[in-house]
Amino acid sequence: MESMTMLVKELTIDIKKKKELHSLDDDFVSERINLFLKNNSKVYATLKKKDISKVKRSKEYTHIMKIIRKDLREAYGMFILPSYDKKRVDGEMNNILATHQSSKERMHNYLDIYGRIWKSMDTKKTVQILDLGCGMNPVSAPIIIDMTKANITYSAYDISSQDMKFLNQYFKEHKIKGTATALDLSKEEEFHKIKVSEKEYVVCFMFKLLDTLETIKRHTSKKLVAYMTTVADIIVVSFPKTGISGKKNIHTDRRSWFETFLHKESCKYEIFEVVNEIFYIIQTKKQSKRKIQKEKN
Ligand SMILES: C[S@@+](CC[C@H](N)C(=O)[O-])C[C@H]1O[C@@H](n2cnc3c(N)ncnc32)[C@H](O)[C@@H]1O
Repeated sequence: MESMTMLVKELTIDIKKKKELHSLDDDFVSERINLFLKNNSKVYATLKKKDISKVKRSKEYTHIMKIIRKDLREAYGMFILPSYDKKRVDGEMNNILATHQSSKERMHNYLDIYGRIWKSMDTKKTVQILDLGCGMNPVSAPIIIDMTKANITYSAYDISSQDMKFLNQYFKEHKIKGTATALDLSKEEEFHKIKVSEKEYVVCFMFKLLDTLETIKRHTSKKLVAYMTTVADIIVVSFPKTGISGKKNIHTDRRSWFETFLHKESCKYEIFEVVNEIFYIIQTKKQSKRKIQKEKN
């Protein structure tokens, strides 16, 4: 085997042969492999000694593929439904929402969810929505626009460039003022790339994102929420109430670790629930500062 780069390249190609993972960016997959090899130097040393034709048939190579595919499935693949590749920007909204597990589950609750969020906001006319780890949720933007009649800018972020390309085309097709950008939110040093409006009231959605982020890098979710409390006016975090099979209850319905964290951050919050999802509407530090300033003036 010539080099680590070559091994990582071959592994990336093979890992992405799994249908549910093929839309992922090569860099995102390669980074996970590099990290694995760094933490498992013996495995790399064994593979390094072998010829490329033998490497691919080795048990070490199969083992790495299995481990990385499992990680990527938990972070991304398990939400991709069989109809995902067939979605079209000019298709019915519900048909697109139904290609992704998370938006499919809340498809019939959007009016209720967005109604409750809008009620909790101070300003309702000119709003930037930041949708982090967005999946196909931005496809529901027309529901918000119709319901609120607000001037909305939609900024969506997730890991796959291919998915973001689809969302950008969707925004264009539906004349929505929006952009979708590929970004790895598990990297603290990338947080500044989230483009936050200074003029608009900023609402940040993190729907069912935090559990997923934790599977990639522990404690990133707290760092991300803490960062967003300084730049967004309100944050709306949601967690699933049931596992993806719909059978087992994930921990408890409420997330005590998250509530403890919010208390530590001195953030006030309210909770509401729809069938299988629990939402936290969080008033941020930025908003508290603004209120104090308003009272002073
Ligand atoms: C459970 S889904 C939720 C999707 C969407 N927020 C919703 O609720 O409809 C989790 C999302 O997080 C995204 N994700 C996972 N790891 C990520 C990362 N490191 N950076 C950005 N997004 C990530 C996945 O691609 C997936 O779309």
